[in-house]
Amino acid sequence: MRHLEDETIMAPFHNKESQTRKACATSPPNVCGLILIGAITFLCEWNTGDTVDVKPQKEIYIPDYNIYHNLTSIQKDVQQLLFLYPNFMKIDWKYSSRLGQPQMLLHITNFTLNTDSNQMGGSKVKILLSYGEHAREFFPVESMFHLLRNLTGGLGSVPGSYEELYSRHILSSTDLHIIVMANPDGRVYVERSHNYCWRGTSTGVDLNRNFDWEYAKKGSSADPNDEEYRGPHAFSEPECSVYKHLTQEMHFDLYISFHSGIRQIYLPFADTHSSTINRQPANIQGIKELAARLASSTRHRYEYGKAMDLTFYTADGTSFDYMAGHRKIPFSLAIELWGSDTHVGASCFDQFNPRSEDLMHETAEVHPLYVSLFDYMIYWKQQRSNRPRGALITKHFQPLQEPIPSHTLSYLLMATVVIVILILAFQGRLLFCQRWQHRRRIISLKTLSSTLSLWGFVKSI
Ligand SMILES: *[C@@H]1O[C@H](CO)[C@@H](O)[C@H](O)[C@H]1NC(C)=O
Ligand SMILES: *[C@@H]1O[C@H](CO)[C@@H](O)[C@H](O)[C@H]1NC(C)=O
Ligand SMILES: *[C@@H]1O[C@H](CO)[C@@H](O)[C@H](O)[C@H]1NC(C)=O
Ligand SMILES: [Zn+2]
Repeated sequence: MRHLEDETIMAPFHNKESQTRKACATSPPNVCGLILIGAITFLCEWNTGDTVDVKPQKEIYIPDYNIYHNLTSIQKDVQQLLFLYPNFMKIDWKYSSRLGQPQMLLHITNFTLNTDSNQMGGSKVKILLSYGEHAREFFPVESMFHLLRNLTGGLGSVPGSYEELYSRHILSSTDLHIIVMANPDGRVYVERSHNYCWRGTSTGVDLNRNFDWEYAKKGSSADPNDEEYRGPHAFSEPECSVYKHLTQEMHFDLYISFHSGIRQIYLPFADTHSSTINRQPANIQGIKELAARLASSTRHRYEYGKAMDLTFYTADGTSFDYMAGHRKIPFSLAIELWGSDTHVGASCFDQFNPRSEDLMHETAEVHPLYVSLFDYMIYWKQQRSNRPRGALITKHFQPLQEPIPSHTLSYLLMATVVIVILILAFQGRLLFCQRWQHRRRIISLKTLSSTLSLWGFVKSI
């Protein structure tokens, strides 16, 4: 088993590689280049195994804890909000990590209104949001604090003001459950070791590969040194209990697993088997519609679609597939909230999180995504409660952009080139494969897509 203490050696820097990539990134995109990169990537993965390690790298910038939260200030700020707004917030401390750190399950709503009735006499929308599954992704939980400040800020505003009415509206119509820090041990490790590439739990397990849905298929790794290490068995990690228990007790309308590294929204299912048999959850049209709304809710357009179509790789044992497939939650998504347009090379913090000085601005910029989310879900719930059970809702919200198309043609082209390169490779040996092994996964889809986006190719497919 992998021990955290072993993780202190700095890996050699890869400046040369960064320079090469930078030079290439500025050249204009073209289809041949795309195919070639695809082929090389495919070949390197196939040839040298699938390990992406989580060793520390030389970072371009790191968080300033006077601006970013650390685990201590996350707990402190949550407690302060609880103290200030006891009628609207409760917390359950009983769920914790392997090393005993609380995961902080927040419950936010207008408690004087019964959960089964909102102001209009319908039911509140039951929402479960999950933050902090991946240790190195700091940004999502910061966006959650922005949301909490927004909702509580309205409560203190002038009665009748827009802010106040907005907060009342949300708190009366939604029953919001938030897993504030799914993987606190991983976070503590990142903060103490300054290894900003660490993704897993204290034992190196990728929580988002440990769920009991298509567990242990090829979209995860059995290698404890791989960043997508799935653990010894499904739900081996105590951190998963909160998800299991909560969804056993309650029927949620919506689940979202928040991540960062790119701006993309994934629809279930992301697993390998579903992708071969083209399996989709029952409410796929509704999910797509919601994703479309969210994708165009902010100044930044998010891509949305099946993970496989956006990223070229599958992910098995993810929390959002589990919620859609096993728990049959009607809406389930994984959202990558933030990504860097300029990241190159092996450093991590800058790939997953903005600079400290940009944090406030960046969290404010993603806030409209939450506004759209509540908007859509409240409307959906209302439509449902006003109609006979099981009736379909009318299509009020039109998708504003089409999902990313599948890549059948690209695959065919790529396959051809792969075969050619395979032949060449066996003659020439794959000396340059090493250079391709420093890429990292995001929700952890294989990073061909992020590699492509580094090279400016994503828009051309
Ligand atoms: C966490 O951040 C605060 C500043 O917000 C700092 O005072 C404190 O020392 C930090 N704690 C740890 C354990 O890093
Ligand atoms: C909260 O967000 C809503 C929607 O963006 C906005 O209208 C409102 O003014 C915000 N409230 C506060 C207190 O910032
Ligand atoms: C919460 O609900 C109660 C009961 O309907 C209502 O009187 C109160 O104004 C609500 N508070 C907020 C902030 O929405
Ligand atoms: Zn992630």
